[in-house]
Amino acid sequence: MSIVVTGATGALGRLVIDALLTGTPAGPSVPAESVVAVVRDKAKAADLAERGVELRIADYSRPETLAGAFEAGDRVLLISGSEVGQRVAQHAAVIDAARAAGVAQLAYTGVLGGDEADFDLAAEHKETERLILASGLPYTLLRNGWYTENYTANLAPVLAHGAVVSNAGEGRVASAARADYAAAAAAVLTGPAEEHLGRAYELSGDTAWSLAEYAAEVAARSGREITYRSVSAGTHLEILTGAGVPEPFAAILVDVDRAVERGALARRTGDLTRLIGRPTTPIAVTIEEALAAS
Ligand SMILES: NC(=O)c1ccc[n+]([C@@H]2O[C@H](COP(=O)([O-])OP(=O)(O)OC[C@H]3O[C@@H](n4cnc5c(N)ncnc54)[C@H](OP(=O)(O)O)[C@@H]3O)[C@@H](O)[C@H]2O)c1
Repeated sequence: MSIVVTGATGALGRLVIDALLTGTPAGPSVPAESVVAVVRDKAKAADLAERGVELRIADYSRPETLAGAFEAGDRVLLISGSEVGQRVAQHAAVIDAARAAGVAQLAYTGVLGGDEADFDLAAEHKETERLILASGLPYTLLRNGWYTENYTANLAPVLAHGAVVSNAGEGRVASAARADYAAAAAAVLTGPAEEHLGRAYELSGDTAWSLAEYAAEVAARSGREITYRSVSAGTHLEILTGAGVPEPFAAILVDVDRAVERGALARRTGDLTRLIGRPTTPIAVTIEEALAAS
């Protein structure tokens, strides 16, 4: 019986493995030999193997490769894939493999709001949750809100133009750092299963902030003049595509901002801070880290 993390070479997956191996305020460390990383690219996972983690090679798009990914009694984290449009079939293949193996827990990284999330990116998560429930597997749903890093990854153009541009209006985002969501995943994989099975956690940051507040925080931390430029959805789409963002991805970003304006990503339940046993990471900290790395 192992703790198995799929998508382990991704940004969240690496943080989950790290939280498992080093421990968190909410959970002790676990020995590397009881942790398995499911990856599609073995070379990319060399550092994980060096830490003593077992690698199993599988691709969500090739169901035959998933046959050996799980074993009976494993506690599994399915990290949602990044290939938008293909994810329902991919996740269905992972769920089938988990059911065939007889895993003891399937945790899944969905989206804040679950069934009620009404933006385009949520559709594949909602369908995946439906498949998990229909599978009869013992499950835990980790409905992740936004990563603060979604914003700080885009600091270079913000600093270059002195503006945060968005069609989210005065909408607020209860984001948290990726490492906060990773610590929550580690807690549900290592904590008493009976406490977490059959539960859906709505995970988000302790504080919801507006894009104007985000711009002010970047200004304060960087010492630069940064303003918030609130634009219409159409203008934002033009700006993004004009800057070279492919139209389908730009449309997704604009749709997310509309959701932010409606308050869909501002929900705060306290689930994340309760699971990780500490406050979530303030945006100022994540901004500082991004500035230091730039
Ligand atoms: N809550 C949020 O704000 C937010 C933001 C962005 C994304 N997400 C979702 O959360 C997930 C994790 O976030 P992240 O930041 O860790 O994203 P990420 O760095 O892009 O990681 C995605 C992981 O999925 C793996 N993957 C993708 N397609 C696969 C396939 N066909 N077979 C096997 N593995 C596959 C990737 O493998 P490789 O390492 O080989 O590429 C990678 O390990 C994302 O995939 C996405 O579903 C959430």
